[in-house]
Amino acid sequence: MSRIPLPYNPKVMELFRNPKNLGKMEDASVIAVAGNPACGDMITFYLKINEATQIIEKAQFESYGCAANIATASIVTEMIKGLTIEQTWNDITWKKVTEEIGGLPSVKFHCGVLAVGAIKRAIRQYLTQKGTALPDWLPKDFTFEEKQALEEEELAKTLSKRQTPEAEK
Ligand code: FES
Repeated sequence: MSRIPLPYNPKVMELFRNPKNLGKMEDASVIAVAGNPACGDMITFYLKINEATQIIEKAQFESYGCAANIATASIVTEMIKGLTIEQTWNDITWKKVTEEIGGLPSVKFHCGVLAVGAIKRAIRQYLTQKGTALPDWLPKDFTFEEKQALEEEELAKTLSKRQTPEAEK
């Protein structure tokens, strides 16, 4: 049985075929790995942050997700380059990223949420690992996007719970 291709717009297809800023970064200030419980796919973000200005100088990613995830991650790396981490936190939402890419099929919204959630997790991790007081603009509770982008271990637990037959729980 053949599958019906999803109606991706040309911008998504172009970024899927030729993603920007793809690959590992050796001198990253922070690396965040996150996965989406909706599909089990994973993404890794690498950010190079200027310690003094808090500006994101470089952003790269590796995606083990679908075309929508690769395309949204690619556009996110371009959108955040040159922004401070505070600007990124406040301005970059999955809705904005979805708009920037020209829209996604609704069944693929979670793929963009994963990209943005992973960026937010990276920023929170960067600030936490510094060990200094957290800034006022960082909410104590995880945002919607962070909650949807689970750390590797949380994702493995969530997925294994789902696969455990009812009788064994
Ligand atoms: S289906 Fe998993 S990231 Fe798109």
